[in-house]
Amino acid sequence: MKLWGGRFTKEENELVHNFNESLSFDRKFYGQDIKGSIAHVTMLARQGIVSEEDKETIVKGLESILEDLDSGKLEFTREYEDIHSFVESNLIKRVGEAGKRLHTGRSRNDQVALDMKLYCRDEIGEIDKLVKGLMEEILKLMEDNLDTYMPGFTHLQKAQPVTLAHHMGAYFEMFYRDRTRLRDIRERMNYCPLGAGALAGTTYPLDRDYTAKLLGFYGPTMNSMDSVSDRDYVIELLNALSIIAMHLSRFSEEIIIWNSNEYQFVELDDAYSTGSSIMPQKKNPDIAELVRGKTGRVYGALISLLTTMKGIPLAYDKDMQEDKELTFDAIDTVKGCLALFAGMISTMSFRKDVMENSAKNGFTNATDAADYLVNHGVPFRDAHGIVGQLVLYCIERDMALDDMTLEEFKAVSPVFEGDVYEAISMKTCVEKRVSLGGPGKAAMERVIQACKERLKE
Ligand code: ARG
Repeated sequence: MKLWGGRFTKEENELVHNFNESLSFDRKFYGQDIKGSIAHVTMLARQGIVSEEDKETIVKGLESILEDLDSGKLEFTREYEDIHSFVESNLIKRVGEAGKRLHTGRSRNDQVALDMKLYCRDEIGEIDKLVKGLMEEILKLMEDNLDTYMPGFTHLQKAQPVTLAHHMGAYFEMFYRDRTRLRDIRERMNYCPLGAGALAGTTYPLDRDYTAKLLGFYGPTMNSMDSVSDRDYVIELLNALSIIAMHLSRFSEEIIIWNSNEYQFVELDDAYSTGSSIMPQKKNPDIAELVRGKTGRVYGALISLLTTMKGIPLAYDKDMQEDKELTFDAIDTVKGCLALFAGMISTMSFRKDVMENSAKNGFTNATDAADYLVNHGVPFRDAHGIVGQLVLYCIERDMALDDMTLEEFKAVSPVFEGDVYEAISMKTCVEKRVSLGGPGKAAMERVIQACKERLKE
């Protein structure tokens, strides 16, 4: 069933049909396709290009198709080439002659450009909601863990003590940037390509401003050749999705490490872990691993589309049909990961005692011991050397700095006094770090306030 049969004499070969068709995947945006057609015909009637009566008939027909597709009463059958032909052919079947007027002043090239834009715009809204939901879970963890001490790492080596609230706050920032990125993309893409025709506009007196307004765009696009061949916004969306996936993957990696026997900082809820078919003791972090693993296919989609687009001459070429499957897959993958992730972190339990002990046992207060000396007049470079000696002394005896007697401290530097214990205690180490963005409670409370504000956006 072809829209373009007139010029052709031979039946299309089955292999060619299967290779060329897109209905098997572009059916996903039938809702957007119908919405675009309703706006188009509404504009055509307003401009006197089709009659009011035909418009009414067409809109009713389109609405009934939408309803029947939603309910499953109307099924997609494989003789149609794409969603555009499917809807138009079904419309003509349902309403007859009037249906043949729908495609006036339009091409599938501007139609598909519109559908893809509407679809991406809708999905940006859905993805944004999911990112926001995850940020809300992260914020809860921040509020509950202002005093949960843990080691902060660099090079995956214990560095300085932080709090779980502070650590979680880093992810809040990442996902906040993701939301602003989605917002930027939506702003930039929100111009309507409909009316660009095949590539060179049309001779009908279309009102492109009106169609754009009906569909919630800021206005029409400004060059018809660009309108039908622009997929920048899809690439930008895949980029944003790749960054979200990267953030989720880093978070997953930490959860996997924290959940390991060696760390035991967290325990995943049974619902988010699985057992082994052979090793009875195992409780594996499969969900976190899968989220980490799925990052590959999201990046793959971005690289695929960039590569597909790089050699396409103006204007529309069929290569662009390749944008759909990979974009749909990347969107669905990231949405799935986001939804699962929020559940996984909200049900995960934190072994606060283990985290705090880990921070205590890794010399994470060594910098503070050096700072103590500096505050008593020792130059920082010398203080660094003195504390280095203390650390070596403790490693040899398998003890922490806090476990040393004052005599032992003094043996290395006479500057140490009884108040050193207070100065290098975990609480002091964290609480003194109140520079904005640091882990100290006062600083964190200010940040949490700001986070709440940002969630209102
Ligand atoms: N299925 C096509 C796509 O996804 C729709 C546009 C077809 N246009 C054309 N001239 N063949 O790109």
